[in-house]
Amino acid sequence: MPRGLRPDYPVRTERLDLRPHRREDLDDLLAFHSDPDVVRYTPWPVRDREQTKATLETKLGQGEVTEPGQWLVLAVVLRETGTVIGEVLLKWASDTDRQGELGYALNAAYHGRGLAAEAAGAMLELGFEDLGLHRIVAVIVDGNDASVQLATRLGMRQEAHFVHAAFFKGEWIDDLVFALREDDWRTHRATESAPARA
Ligand SMILES: CC(C)(COP(=O)(O)OP(=O)(O)OC[C@H]1O[C@@H](n2cnc3c(N)ncnc32)[C@H](O)[C@@H]1OP(=O)(O)O)[C@@H](O)C(=O)NCCC(=O)NCCS
Repeated sequence: MPRGLRPDYPVRTERLDLRPHRREDLDDLLAFHSDPDVVRYTPWPVRDREQTKATLETKLGQGEVTEPGQWLVLAVVLRETGTVIGEVLLKWASDTDRQGELGYALNAAYHGRGLAAEAAGAMLELGFEDLGLHRIVAVIVDGNDASVQLATRLGMRQEAHFVHAAFFKGEWIDDLVFALREDDWRTHRATESAPARA
């Protein structure tokens, strides 16, 4: 089993390059980290420039995972323009149980084009193929229908609905746990027309 994950960058999909963040990504990152609609269901609040800069500093070191508990956090670059349009995340949750967690957020101007699915699909492939994971989950705040649709499109199934699992941005919310096992991922992938990575 491989120890950790250090992909060859960029990770290419049909329309996207996934790569570690760079300091010059700040303006593109701010464009969606400061958008109340985008962050409504994300663990982070609406961020100003200084807050986005501080989080970018952390992201700079998250282009590889070497220990369970760490997140791989990649910038989603639209190859056609070079714009950072979002970010995708993969947590190496457990080594012995080969568990992972997926996350994603895109600038609202790029929603509805299948780009999040393309980026997240590549992260699933990194998790299952390169990191050797057995199961990957997505934890979604109940009400985040776009995220539920994306998880479903990726082949994930809802396993749990935890009621009032967290006090989140001023209210009690329910958490939905979606999950995908490696064998189901391989079956789902075989029915898709395009490969996750180009
Ligand atoms: C969750 C999120 C990433 C989903 O983005 P998205 O663009 O809706 O997701 P997809 O990439 O799967 O795109 C799907 C849509 O593109 C359409 N589409 C267009 N071209 C497509 C293509 N080539 N392939 C696939 N879908 C395509 C689909 O029909 C679908 O449209 P619909 O929503 O009207 O049904 C986005 O809503 C987001 O960033 N939300 C804010 C952050 C957030 O909440 N993150 C999740 C925390 S758990």
